[in-house]
Amino acid sequence: MPAQRATRVPPAWLIRPLLATRNGLARLHRALVPPEVALLECSLGIIDTKALSVAAELGVADHLADGPLSDDALATACDADPDALARILRYLVGRGIFSRTRDGRFKNNKRSELLRTIDGSSRAWARFFGAGWHVSGWNALDHSARTGDSGAEAALGRPFWEYLTDVNPDAGAVFDAAMESVSSVQMSVIARKYPWSSCTTVCDVGGGTGTLLAAILNAHPNLRGVLFDLPAVIAKSAPVLDTAGVAERVTVEGGDFFESVPSGCDRYLLQAIVHDWDDDSCVHFLSNCRDAMTPDGRVLVLETIMPTHDGDHFAKAIDLEMLVDTGAGRERTRAEFDTLFARAGLRISKTIPIALTTMFELERA
Ligand SMILES: C[S@@+](CC[C@H](N)C(=O)[O-])C[C@H]1O[C@@H](n2cnc3c(N)ncnc32)[C@H](O)[C@@H]1O
Repeated sequence: MPAQRATRVPPAWLIRPLLATRNGLARLHRALVPPEVALLECSLGIIDTKALSVAAELGVADHLADGPLSDDALATACDADPDALARILRYLVGRGIFSRTRDGRFKNNKRSELLRTIDGSSRAWARFFGAGWHVSGWNALDHSARTGDSGAEAALGRPFWEYLTDVNPDAGAVFDAAMESVSSVQMSVIARKYPWSSCTTVCDVGGGTGTLLAAILNAHPNLRGVLFDLPAVIAKSAPVLDTAGVAERVTVEGGDFFESVPSGCDRYLLQAIVHDWDDDSCVHFLSNCRDAMTPDGRVLVLETIMPTHDGDHFAKAIDLEMLVDTGAGRERTRAEFDTLFARAGLRISKTIPIALTTMFELERA
């Protein structure tokens, strides 16, 4: 079993001032360089994405886990060209990922440790983001810009979810692992901050391979769970649920949430699902959850709220990722969520800030 890493997430109340400070520093940083340089720097983003993903793909951080290595020794371990690998790592060291000893050997630092193959690491995310098939969707951003449709579908020839499940299961496995790694950043906070003891059965709708559900059940031994996702995705859930020791309390069900969701649970959790779809589609599956839940049941939607300010924000980047991946997906402002939930016959009973995201607890309107 891979080594376990405890994720530290700053408390939600600290995140807003931290982001505001960072935005202020970013404005200062931009003011310090001529506009031509700022533009040039902005155009180089693909180098970060690809250098990081290649380092993750080659397992560089794993090979450095036991200590620093010279260019040659590291290249041999990674089966890479020594000069090319050293240049990629020199770039990443400059970006604050990996570092060097005084005698020039590469070593891990706090950030590159996150590229190791350990539970809760970001290696899968880095591999997903820079993967050729994923970047091919971004290469078609101009198609999205002209049509409003998915660049990924134009590039891959099939809708995003179909591509992952039916065409390229290896890509699907990388994507599922990337979702697990993102989930793991805040799952312990979700498990702690919601009063799960007030319910009996939680259905994780579009729950992937079950990482989040497993964390919640682990923290609440009396709770039962239903893991619901596309059949090809739930087929990969057994190791996750077994390793977490919660398999006996989970019913795993494959299906399509546009048709129906398992009935009779008192909580329906949807993390990073609403942002994948247009409003009409969301109303469709949210209404299915509303109809399926017990009389006093609740739907729990976990999403990032799109800020209305013009500063830099993670939600604005992920919003474009949704445009490229699904075309119909988007990040929403608080006002847009209110309208959407009302259309599905739901109203907000509670909002719980969780790291960069918000959990909306919804009851029947
Ligand atoms: C962005 S991922 C989020 C996964 C998980 N909730 C998480 O936060 O890690 C979206 C999930 O929705 C699932 N999905 C997409 N279309 C679906 C459908 N029609 N019915 C059920 N699940 C679906 C995908 O397989 C995927 O696991």
